Amino acid sequence: MSSTPLIGSETDVTPAVLGAMAAAPDARLRAVMESAVRHLHAFLLETRPSEEEFEAALRWIAALGHHTDEANNEVVLAADVLGASTLIDLINNDGMQGETMSALLGPFYRGAAPECANGESIARSPTPGAQLHFSGRVTDVDGRPIAGAKLDVWQASPAGFYENQDPEQADFNLRGVFHTDKDGRFAFRSVRPAGYPVPTGGPVGALLRAQRRRPMRPAHIHFIVSAKGYKTLVTQIFCDEPAALADDVVFGAKQQIAADFVPHHAASARHPGMEPPFFTCEYDFVLKPGPSTYPVPPISGKRS
Ligand code: BEZ
Ligand code: FE
Repeated sequence: MSSTPLIGSETDVTPAVLGAMAAAPDARLRAVMESAVRHLHAFLLETRPSEEEFEAALRWIAALGHHTDEANNEVVLAADVLGASTLIDLINNDGMQGETMSALLGPFYRGAAPECANGESIARSPTPGAQLHFSGRVTDVDGRPIAGAKLDVWQASPAGFYENQDPEQADFNLRGVFHTDKDGRFAFRSVRPAGYPVPTGGPVGALLRAQRRRPMRPAHIHFIVSAKGYKTLVTQIFCDEPAALADDVVFGAKQQIAADFVPHHAASARHPGMEPPFFTCEYDFVLKPGPSTYPVPPISGKRS
């Protein structure tokens, strides 16, 4: 059995911990944990927290867990406001093959949304706001249509709440699953989303206030677009002004996924049943070859 020398000073701790972890058989776990410990110790030696500061930091981390339940995921929210989720997104998705740019999943994705026919509305309870017709195609990087692609769609209401946060909205309001037709086309109706503040009642909100940060997200609609043989695309389509895009508390807005939401001030035969003023948006998603894995939902239900 190898023995680690006893700790005598600050500089003994990092090699002792690295030595204790060195026999992990999983090479990736070994490499990731070695790097994590090196950076963590370097950070502590640089910032030299007091014992009170360290205890406060541990309480903040524990509070992330206490504020996480079936309707809110404070751990994901913390990763988002610290820029970690967007960094992970960009490390894994560079958009270099012509595929649509991705964006972070966020804490409000629920699986098992109702399956919808093309053209159906995802407003399942009275949802005040301007109507929206959203349509487009899903293609591969050479522009060939992908038939049967699945689009998992979710968005906040114009009042700025996801249905799981809001007792006024029906279960799964503004959420739905669509499939492309033989030409790769899809369409749905909804309401134009508005920007909204991320939840600020927990430890993440306390941090944002201490840092004098605005908790806003620009208006957007979330999509997970998937098809067998193609890399699953997790993204958001933005419909806000440039100033709002630049003021995203989770650093998720990208120019490449900002779309034109066209206002219509009169009824139009092309859009029967849409009450003016309404908006239309046409957006084509491009998938590249890859694994069609699916994200695990960070929440499962509505606040009871
Ligand atoms: C969202 O877009 O749903 C979201 C993303 C990050 C934090 C909070 C909300
Ligand atoms: Fe969102």
